[in-house]
Amino acid sequence: MILPIVAYGTSILWKRGKEIENPLSDEVQKLIDDMFETMYNASGVGLAAPQVDRSLRLFVIDPAPFAEWDELGETDKKSLLNAKKVFINPLIINEEGEEWTFEEGCLSIPAIHEKVNRKPVITMEYTDREGNRLTETFDGLIARVIQHEYDHVEGILFTDRLSPLKKRLLKRKLEKIAKGQVRVDYPMKFPGKIRRP
Ligand code: NI
Repeated sequence: MILPIVAYGTSILWKRGKEIENPLSDEVQKLIDDMFETMYNASGVGLAAPQVDRSLRLFVIDPAPFAEWDELGETDKKSLLNAKKVFINPLIINEEGEEWTFEEGCLSIPAIHEKVNRKPVITMEYTDREGNRLTETFDGLIARVIQHEYDHVEGILFTDRLSPLKKRLLKRKLEKIAKGQVRVDYPMKFPGKIRRP
């Protein structure tokens, strides 16, 4: 089932998600399926539970569309095509390397793309959808997508990471998104005004 994605300004987007007690429950498994369907329908590469109005520590990713980029090597392409993943109760336990910049977007913030700096290598502890607790290291674009989605379950948006000047320049656009004055081709729910807790 395709779920509506909540837009910028919705207070749940600034709330830390709750731990999931039973990853194997029908409810959680159904939510995971719905989140993938919702993400693909919106041509996204990642989606976090707070974006579909559930304040939970859960996100899904599938960065396969990035594999189309010509400048990538074959190894990178292959790993991007095999990176469809579910992260339950994730924890970033290490981030390292020199920060690099990448233009990020967000399904909750349509039509805005801005450069964000993040470290290139991360080590994560997380539970997969079969209930296994894993520790894994990611880099490159996969790490980038995970860091963006991880922020969502921590109650942080990529626009929160921009410079004060950039934030000022985007203020009007963000207010318009909250009001629903933006063109999108997937179902969204707009808060009407910015309701930042
Ligand atoms: Ni996002």
